Amino acid sequence: MAKKFKVLSKEEIAPQIKRMVIKAPLIAKKAKAGQFVILRVDEYGERFPLTLVDWNPNAGTITLIFQEVGVSTKKLGKIAPGAYIEDIVGPLGNPTEIDRYGHVAVIGGGVGTALIYPWVRSLKRVGNHVTTIIGARSANLLLLEKELSELSDEIYISTDDGTKGIKGFTSDVLKSLLEKGRKFDLVMAAGPVLMMKAVADVTRPYKIKTIVSLNPIMVDGTGMCGSCRVTVGGKTRFACVDGPEFDAHEVDFRELINRLRTYREEEQIALQHLKDCQ
Ligand code: FAD
Ligand code: FES
Ligand code: MG
Repeated sequence: MAKKFKVLSKEEIAPQIKRMVIKAPLIAKKAKAGQFVILRVDEYGERFPLTLVDWNPNAGTITLIFQEVGVSTKKLGKIAPGAYIEDIVGPLGNPTEIDRYGHVAVIGGGVGTALIYPWVRSLKRVGNHVTTIIGARSANLLLLEKELSELSDEIYISTDDGTKGIKGFTSDVLKSLLEKGRKFDLVMAAGPVLMMKAVADVTRPYKIKTIVSLNPIMVDGTGMCGSCRVTVGGKTRFACVDGPEFDAHEVDFRELINRLRTYREEEQIALQHLKDCQ
């Protein structure tokens, strides 16, 4: 069977984090901020989701940014420009509700910073004032600092080890801004689950509407398999078709953390097998 999705470029933008531009004209034509694709790297590959970070309908291209954490993302990272990805399905998920909210704080942690890029761009386009907060474990893992600085009205940076910006977490930066009297009409966050939970805990007492993009395990991405089940406001929701964005104050983050660990053992075995085969 003919392979379909040509990789046009690939660059390492931080250790173990790659940006890839792929020819995918139909997806590029329909993509909207907040949506994602589901890929299969080769014909034996598992299905896994990645966010649409950028797209160009004229050139027929999409841009993905991914962290190599396990077998599928490592295999994807090995595909050279000019070679092909077996399958890409999308755009999937609901687009972000972009409106003129006023002053929006947008927070990205780790590879979640890639997710916030289309948010910031779309929010700015309709006239919002955007305060962006990005964070990573260390300075060399910070993503899209230049791009987000150019788009945002102001940007704050935090690193866990203090190698750049404020030492601490993105939620600490948000907390200190709020304590100084800064007012936000909306807060949006994407990143590690514990970061999104911390952001929700910071905004809850201030009653600021807070949206998070959830990252549960996804397989089909169309509401059929149930693997992306999350509990929001006490109700079961499927993140692929009901999300991936939800009201952070309603999300059961503990359950999400536990469900993300479901296949840890199998993932470790598969990763070891991949290393043994290299
Ligand atoms: P594995 O070793 O298989 O898994 C490592 C960990 O990743 C697991 O413990 C689990 O927590 C998670 N994971 C595994 N399989 C899946 C799966 N099928 N679906 C979701 N999570 C899984 N990562 C990025 O780097 N960039 C992105 O833009 C991005 N966007 C995402 C958008 C959505 C809507 C979701 C749900 C996840 C997104 N992710 C993104 C996470 C990405 O899908 C996982 O890192 C990837 O599936 C890991 O696969 P693996 O085989 O390399 O690692
Ligand atoms: Fe299968 Fe959402 S990924 S139902
Ligand atoms: Mg995997």
